[in-house]
Amino acid sequence: MSYNNLMRLDRLLANSGLGTRSKIRDRISHGIVQVNGTIVTDASFHVTENDSIIYDGQEINCQTKLYYLLDKPDGVLTAMEDKRLPCVADYIPSELMSKKLSPVGRLDYHTSGLLIITNDGELSHRLQSPKYEVPKVYLATYRGLEWKDSEIAAIASGFTIRDKGYSEDIAPAELKPAKPYEDGSLRALLTLHEGKTHEVRRIFAHFEKEVIALRRIELSGIKISEGLDECGTFRALTGSELNMLFNATGLN
Ligand code: URA
Repeated sequence: MSYNNLMRLDRLLANSGLGTRSKIRDRISHGIVQVNGTIVTDASFHVTENDSIIYDGQEINCQTKLYYLLDKPDGVLTAMEDKRLPCVADYIPSELMSKKLSPVGRLDYHTSGLLIITNDGELSHRLQSPKYEVPKVYLATYRGLEWKDSEIAAIASGFTIRDKGYSEDIAPAELKPAKPYEDGSLRALLTLHEGKTHEVRRIFAHFEKEVIALRRIELSGIKISEGLDECGTFRALTGSELNMLFNATGLN
């Protein structure tokens, strides 16, 4: 259920972090909750996010801003709902499903790694805007020849891709070859400051390399492990991580 819909008063208050539903039901029955100025003692009373709710004399902000990090596994859609395929909502605890959370930007179905999940629309918009040039670091495993200095220089100065029947300018980015895996697979780190569709895969393809695994390991200074062991982790951002996002997007 989303906040656009009606929701039971006790559930909404529990979702706002005020305690367990049984404790809240007890408090409601004691007449400490007002909805739009009227005392409500029925926990099943239906409310929406637009109602004014006072709990024990305190105005409740039903739209509290929340910030999480998901280490998205490979084979998961960056979507809050899908009838057939696993999606990021499957990794979000059910008690948060009414909080209007959504992923910031998009990772491909076959890209794993760092995804910010929030209900802060302004932060989400700014993190995706090319204006703030928020750096995102991708670790790509690829097939093809090793990178030439001239290719790395072209990426550093920006270049034009023609791969979909039209031209698209790619902003300057940083490519760093990384130590190959023990099995000899080639790897490279690519830092982008914008977010065009399939951008990493298209940059590699432009230089005749095929990305076979892709993982976002850093966003605006927030880092996650390079390996796959943490995939599926969902956790709240720490205060210092949040500061990094606010500083990078001029929201501090
Ligand atoms: N670039 C890609 O090609 N895929 C992603 O998921 C993210 C960036």
